[in-house]
Amino acid sequence: MTRPDPPRDQPEAPANPGRTLHPWDEIPPALLKPAHAYAAQRDWPGYFAAVAGKGPRETLIEALRLWGDRPPGFAVDLAAGEGRDAAELVRRGWRVLAIDGHPQAIARMAARVDVPDWSRLRTVQAMMEDAPLPECDLLNASFALPFCLPHRFAELWERIVSAVRPGGWFCGQLFGDRDTWAALPDRSHQTREQAMEMLARFDIAQFNEEDKDGADAHHHPKHWHVYHVVARKR
Ligand SMILES: C[S@@+](CC[C@H](N)C(=O)[O-])C[C@H]1O[C@@H](n2cnc3c(N)ncnc32)[C@H](O)[C@@H]1O
Repeated sequence: MTRPDPPRDQPEAPANPGRTLHPWDEIPPALLKPAHAYAAQRDWPGYFAAVAGKGPRETLIEALRLWGDRPPGFAVDLAAGEGRDAAELVRRGWRVLAIDGHPQAIARMAARVDVPDWSRLRTVQAMMEDAPLPECDLLNASFALPFCLPHRFAELWERIVSAVRPGGWFCGQLFGDRDTWAALPDRSHQTREQAMEMLARFDIAQFNEEDKDGADAHHHPKHWHVYHVVARKR
């Protein structure tokens, strides 16, 4: 893609009446809820506003550490959101295809100021259930896969496994059956055994199971049951 808009660097609209106003400029930061409260409702503009400015996910950082000194490859960032991981990959010299279903995710990626080489980042607005997944050296799916429609999940996972080249990496999260959101009919969650079975064609470098209650100052309780995965395809 080519970058459509200059970065947002003007603080006051009246000082620059010609600037582009993005939808996310209208969410007052003081009113933001925690990110998961938006994700629970699939309120993606709210989610993007809540996570704006956050750094890359730890599972991606670990996969990149394990990639080592080899030249950067080609990565797919599935349900990339506002691009926190895609930007990190590009900064480290990777070529990236970032896929997300929401138009604001794509617009926010285009507005990022921390992508040093736009020739290495391509963004595509598409649903993960339908998006073609090209062969890649790394497939990153950070907090993404539970949002796949359950009846499409098995087929999506099969396409993910096929897309990762032998010796390439999968990193991201799978969500467990004890997570609060597992009760929602449009979510895809797995038991630990199912998750392990899904990873049968991988050597697992990290499988950190998080199983804990969360609550915050805004009183949005959530039980987290998440597998943080970094795995290398055989
Ligand atoms: C919880 S956010 C995670 C975003 C990003 N990967 C991160 O780590 O912050 C989930 C993302 O999935 C996207 N999404 C949800 N359902 C989707 C679908 N069926 N196909 C493609 N993207 C989807 C949303 O637009 C959102 O950007």
